[in-house]
Amino acid sequence: MREDGLLTARPTAEDHHSESVLRPRSLDEFVGQPKIKERLGISIDAAEKLERPLDHLLLSGPPGLGKTTLARIIAVEMGSALRSTSGPAIERPGDLAAILSGLEHGDVLFIDEIHRLPRVVEEVLYSAMEDFALDIVVGKGPTAQSLRLGLPPFTLVGATTRIGTVTAPLRDRFGMLDRIDYYEPDDLELIVLRSASIIGVPVTEAGARCIAVRSRGTPRIANRLLTRVSEYAIARADGRVDHSTALAGLAIWEVDDMGLDKVDRYILDAIVNKFGGGPVGLTTLAIAVGEEPETIEAAYEPFLVQRGLVLRTPRGRMATSLTYRHMGVAEPEPAQRSFLRSGG
Ligand SMILES: Nc1ncnc2c1ncn2[C@@H]1O[C@H](COP(=O)(O)OP(=O)(O)O)[C@@H](O)[C@H]1O
Ligand SMILES: [Mg+2]
Repeated sequence: MREDGLLTARPTAEDHHSESVLRPRSLDEFVGQPKIKERLGISIDAAEKLERPLDHLLLSGPPGLGKTTLARIIAVEMGSALRSTSGPAIERPGDLAAILSGLEHGDVLFIDEIHRLPRVVEEVLYSAMEDFALDIVVGKGPTAQSLRLGLPPFTLVGATTRIGTVTAPLRDRFGMLDRIDYYEPDDLELIVLRSASIIGVPVTEAGARCIAVRSRGTPRIANRLLTRVSEYAIARADGRVDHSTALAGLAIWEVDDMGLDKVDRYILDAIVNKFGGGPVGLTTLAIAVGEEPETIEAAYEPFLVQRGLVLRTPRGRMATSLTYRHMGVAEPEPAQRSFLRSGG
């Protein structure tokens, strides 16, 4: 098994520690995403004035962009308790029924990776979301009876990296759906400066900028790069993260000027060099790179697509002119491409 990339946006054990320190606790502290903050702020204020729980919210977007953070902020802003679980953790309908019946008025229930809820569990959620009711079947066979238990009003916040796999009946029961997009360098720079001041690392503006533009649009990665670079600054320089220290620290971790790490480059290299520029199917590509198809699709590919380095077509993934330029490989003529692909 290959080592994991430094930049995979999925959380590591170390992240769980640093994230609890660095995680914004209010909408004001949450950097960037002005439209999402405005919409959420309005709904929260209205819910408070009407003295009722916030409507159910489904957040989607690639890992590390702030979905869990927003769920916590919502609970804080609503003055509610937060109950957290995740799709794969709830195996049977009874597990979910237990969680639901333990909720109190106004609680925020956060279900991470909600697309991974088993279908039978998901069905329990429908009436809970719609009517604040729990339908349970007592007994078996012809004498089985259906009981309806009332639940206190609550807010469900669901998060998913794969909105396309959330079923329509579940999706339709959310009053608010929002997609978090990659952050702009300006916002990432603010996040780096904010985090640096919290952990007490001296960073120049140019140093923060250098990290920001190489963070793949992702706050979790920005924080992680800051940590690595600050270690480099302490161990090999004067402890201050300026532009040249940041560049040198990032070079050690093989982060390139677009912020791509080794795994990103394995993906591009496979498309360009092993599959003649594509199209190549996701599964084939995943095998060539040694990752799960789901990981490629949810964690790596969105950024590569957004930056124009991978083209998704109905026949598979393809390289673009930019891919060739970034990889320093001459782009073949179209005719030559199909020749390469047919194994010539
Ligand atoms: N808008 C933001 N402003 C500041 N820091 C953020 C923001 N969004 C995310 N972060 C940082 O990135 C980390 C990862 O965010 P998280 O909410 O866990 O991402 P997700 O749940 O989408 O994978 C957080 O702990 C936080 O430190
Ligand atoms: Mg999360």
